Amino acid sequence: MDEPAGEVPTLRWTAQGIEILDQTRLPAAVVVRRLETVDAVVTAIQELAIRGAPALGACGAFGVALGLRGAPAGAPRPPVALLETLRQRLGGARPTAVNLRWAVDRVVDACLAGGAADPETVALQEAQAIFDEDRQACARIGEHGRLELPGAVALLTHCNTGRLATCGWGTALGVVYAKAARGEPVRVLAAETRPLLQGARLTAWELARAGIPVTLLSDGAAAAALRRGLVDAVIVGADRIARNGDVANKVGTLAHALAAHHFGIPFYVAAPLTTFDPATATGDAIVVEQRSPDEVRRAGTTLVAPETVAVWNPAFDITPAELITGLITDAGVLRPPYPAAITAALRATGALPPAA
Ligand code: MRU
Repeated sequence: MDEPAGEVPTLRWTAQGIEILDQTRLPAAVVVRRLETVDAVVTAIQELAIRGAPALGACGAFGVALGLRGAPAGAPRPPVALLETLRQRLGGARPTAVNLRWAVDRVVDACLAGGAADPETVALQEAQAIFDEDRQACARIGEHGRLELPGAVALLTHCNTGRLATCGWGTALGVVYAKAARGEPVRVLAAETRPLLQGARLTAWELARAGIPVTLLSDGAAAAALRRGLVDAVIVGADRIARNGDVANKVGTLAHALAAHHFGIPFYVAAPLTTFDPATATGDAIVVEQRSPDEVRRAGTTLVAPETVAVWNPAFDITPAELITGLITDAGVLRPPYPAAITAALRATGALPPAA
């Protein structure tokens, strides 16, 4: 469960601020970036120097603690106006991954409830709890997924859902690590994940360092791999899951789900319950982040299209619930009909009120 010896943590709190492994520099260089201000946190989140729904949540949570630093001695307690500014600024840094908004709200609300207590101390405790809980959730997801997929050796995945995306060993990749930890055979087909290449730059890098066999393929090759019988199951992560089971995840996920459905291959989504949004009824209500056209016009810094060509660049897509075989969560595997399964799971955590 711990990082392999010598690995730089994806994210950690230090006395000087938040230290992140700068994912914009991978795989060429392993660079630690220290975030000492709220502006630096927001920029790192928007640049995808830190990314992946659970890691975004933890980073935003520690960001609140950072924003409370150095408040003047006579400042009101709780510092309501400052907390509300931090809620908006950090919680809204990226719109789709619900973990970010959820974690920032949780820390801000804890500080508001803390009354006269030192707000930075309260925020740090809450942020650390979010970090620790995510590590535990990753471990449970891995084990539930391992038991769900005993015979699946070749797993196709998209984007990066591992140590670089969470506080623990990951969600979809957590299942891979759980299998490997038990000595079970497992190998990963990693779709490169255009335009920002999280599959190529991050998943291939992370798995290779962990000694797990990984084959990189272009996103367009995934359907062919499914048709050829090269894949036992598809397993991806999520940025937000609606109450009906529709899933927002990195753009390209929907194409894998449609192809898997066509060829009769199981398609799983692995995510902690913190990625489920009780306030969102269906995928249609999920705000999908639109990103810079230059991400598509260029591969890295190299121009690969006419410099001024019009571009449509949604960062995520919505996979309808009916294409999903199961939702592997920290509370077990949820199966269709999803509305009932999700409601029961969220009631059990208190995220939804008990049935009347
Ligand atoms: O834009 P990104 O890199 O933050 O997108 C990440 C994803 O889409 C992941 O699949 C998702 O956050 C799950 S991470 C466990």
